[in-house]
Amino acid sequence: MTGKARIAIIGSGLMGHGIAQVFALAGHDVTITDSHTPNLDTVKQRIATNLRDLGDDEKAVERVRPVADMAACVRDADFVVEAVLEDMPLKQKIFGEIEKHVRSDTILASNTSVMPITEIMKGLRDRSRALGTHWWNPPFLVPLVEVIGTEWTSQAAIDFTMKLHADAGKMPAHVKKDVPGFIGNRLQHALWREAVSLVENGICDAETVDKVIKAAFGRRIAVLGPLENADLVGTDLTLAIHKTVLPAIDHRPGPSPYLERLVAEGKLGFKSGEGFRKWSPGEQAALRAKVLQHLKKARENDK
Ligand SMILES: NC(=O)c1ccc[n+]([C@@H]2O[C@H](COP(=O)([O-])OP(=O)(O)OC[C@H]3O[C@@H](n4cnc5c(N)ncnc54)[C@H](O)[C@@H]3O)[C@@H](O)[C@H]2O)c1
Repeated sequence: MTGKARIAIIGSGLMGHGIAQVFALAGHDVTITDSHTPNLDTVKQRIATNLRDLGDDEKAVERVRPVADMAACVRDADFVVEAVLEDMPLKQKIFGEIEKHVRSDTILASNTSVMPITEIMKGLRDRSRALGTHWWNPPFLVPLVEVIGTEWTSQAAIDFTMKLHADAGKMPAHVKKDVPGFIGNRLQHALWREAVSLVENGICDAETVDKVIKAAFGRRIAVLGPLENADLVGTDLTLAIHKTVLPAIDHRPGPSPYLERLVAEGKLGFKSGEGFRKWSPGEQAALRAKVLQHLKKARENDK
């Protein structure tokens, strides 16, 4: 990417406003739209607050322009990112609409968490410029962006997107096949499946699962990935461990009935005050603050 790009963002919620912030801070001009007016009306204020809080250049917010009309938002864009709700028909409809108003060389990206990009983009006239860019929350603190191509995506679109994000200070990772959950959420939810299963089977309670992770391999995982770890201990030892442990690990294909029961009982986590554990408003705020503080420190360490 040479010079400034014009970035258009659809959705100014949790992810959309953070993605806008990253691109604006990298010097790009950003337009952003949202169907919910209060979200659009507050987007610049939310970005300004984040920039101030992080000690980043507060003037970056001047490069963000909220636009109520989606067609006007995307018309001049080089790169469009969709960050609306995780709803397949909605995303398909939005990309159909976007395609009517963009230039023929504009790249179109969805920030879906887990849904196949192929399915989202299948109705487009030109699918070679469509791909996924999966950011992590909060976008301005977590470095990774997964860049997902479909069987139709051109190499030029992938190359442009990888460079655009690397130049904006992110750590792009190319996902070569469009599989549900991409790389990060497949790994994350493989772990969560076993975490739920350990509780469901009475091996320990939820607090203990989290303690074991945070006080053991969680301590290393930011600097020692699992395959680095396998090489470090030896692939022969890894094989021996897998022979004993893998047959015992949960490998049911669907969600756990224990999790389904929590949801059916209205135990939805923070939003209802109870999920796997009970959460007072004070405990919720303390955990959110702790995560944010941890991510800020990690960003400082990266500098
Ligand atoms: N929250 C996360 O941790 C996270 C992480 C990675 C990816 N994602 C994905 O990013 C996307 C957005 O998630 P979020 O957490 O920012 O959601 P959010 O609810 O905070 O924001 C979604 C925004 O989209 C707007 N919107 C809804 N319909 C619209 C339309 N037709 N046109 C324009 N705007 C519309 C909403 O008003 C809202 O402001 C989802 O696909 C989600 O799965 C979320």
